[in-house]
Amino acid sequence: MKLADNKATLSFSNGTPSVELPVYHGNIGPDVIDIRKLYAQTGMFTYDPGFLSTAACQSAITYIDGDKGELLYRGYPIEQLATQCDFMETCHLLLYGELPNAEGKKNFTRTVTMHTMVNEQMQFFLRGFRRDAHPMAIMTGLVGALSAFYHDSTDINNPQHREIAAIRLIAKMPTLVAMAYKYTVGQPYMYPKNELSYAGNFLHMMFATPCEPYAVNPVLERALDRIFTLHADHEQNASTSTVRLCGSSGTNPFAAIAAGVACLWGPAHGGANEAALNMLGDIQKAGGVEKIGEFIKQVKDKNSGVKLMGFGHRVYKNYDPRAKLMQETCKEVLGELGLENDPLFKLAMALEKIALEDEYFVSRKLYPNVDFYSGIVQRAIGIPVPLFTAIFALARTVGWIAQLNEMIGDPEYKIGRPRQLFTGSNRRDVTPLAQR
Ligand code: CMC
Repeated sequence: MKLADNKATLSFSNGTPSVELPVYHGNIGPDVIDIRKLYAQTGMFTYDPGFLSTAACQSAITYIDGDKGELLYRGYPIEQLATQCDFMETCHLLLYGELPNAEGKKNFTRTVTMHTMVNEQMQFFLRGFRRDAHPMAIMTGLVGALSAFYHDSTDINNPQHREIAAIRLIAKMPTLVAMAYKYTVGQPYMYPKNELSYAGNFLHMMFATPCEPYAVNPVLERALDRIFTLHADHEQNASTSTVRLCGSSGTNPFAAIAAGVACLWGPAHGGANEAALNMLGDIQKAGGVEKIGEFIKQVKDKNSGVKLMGFGHRVYKNYDPRAKLMQETCKEVLGELGLENDPLFKLAMALEKIALEDEYFVSRKLYPNVDFYSGIVQRAIGIPVPLFTAIFALARTVGWIAQLNEMIGDPEYKIGRPRQLFTGSNRRDVTPLAQR
């Protein structure tokens, strides 16, 4: 970051002397006011719950222009990455800063492929869960448990440990998600097949059985690869910030990523794809397209607690570029599977059209986000609804680990320790139990 020529001056109306605060430029996007010395100079904190105006770190990985609806990974537009590169190239880009050449891609893919198996003990660990456990509950446990199996990659301060942990996490997440699925349906786990692509291997581990040959459908493989690419990173979102905060204490990478998985689970974040599909299912059951008006009325009623899931975003105040790409993939997958008349897809299109014209959504700049269509694609592929967020976690793992490693390598990195505005009781004395 570059120190700007101008400074910010903070003045107070009560006579407290004003303070000058340095301003920094990034490469693109808003400047930041450096308030690190504010408390020492004034005895005051800043107050910004939800981080509406706070940059918690500097980062060179992902840039979002929410007004334009632009998403760049290391400078490359998501549209180009989604159509000209695959997920392995995207992982290389996010982790190392550059797209690989052909040789580099081969080597990186090979390294990831060689780590796809998990320690055989993991399946006994998995057995401790109820068969009907939510896949995200299982994933939070399994990812955290990796630190109990791979002791040679748990030192966050050792660059080699960090690198091998990154590769292991990217390689093993599909295996763990597929194991969680197979466990809930009572089918044997399928070992990874090294001749397949990253997405193809995931389809194989999910849908093959030992009884019959399984051929990966290239359209579904490409669709899944695109889902992975679109979800790979998204700047300082809630789960990434969780990973950074968790990792800032020096904990091991697997534990930090498990914290990210836990955060992603929530319906305001990664859980939205599951919630969006459930919402479409509920409208469909209630009468389908004809019931959209009634549903939109409920959404606009603040007391109803109903939200249009898959709509709205903290940063995008324009169409989420990932949603456009996901809509394309959705059409391709439904076409391939002969599901062009899929009622939920039609319902989603109708709902989107009405919402995009409605004053409530227009005035609040609420547009479809990536989750609006990703659920329909995943459902068409055969992925059960409760597993959607686990697929998001699988894809976001590379972003989490790239951001975690960037933070550890940053000379300005400190343990994250937010402060507070205390509104509780003043000091008081305990009344003995008998007198309370
Ligand atoms: N349906 C109805 N109203 C909404 C919605 C929605 N989906 N999203 C925002 N609003 C309204 C909100 O009620 C508020 O209205 P008002 O100004 O009258 O009080 C206004 O729009 C601003 O919303 P906000 O809650 O202040 O915005 P936020 O930045 O805090 O929340 C959000 C962003 C994503 C949590 C929210 O839009 C939401 O809950 N959306 C539905 C869940 C969803 O699709 N999440 C996936 C996000 S993308 C994937 C990911 O990155 O995880």
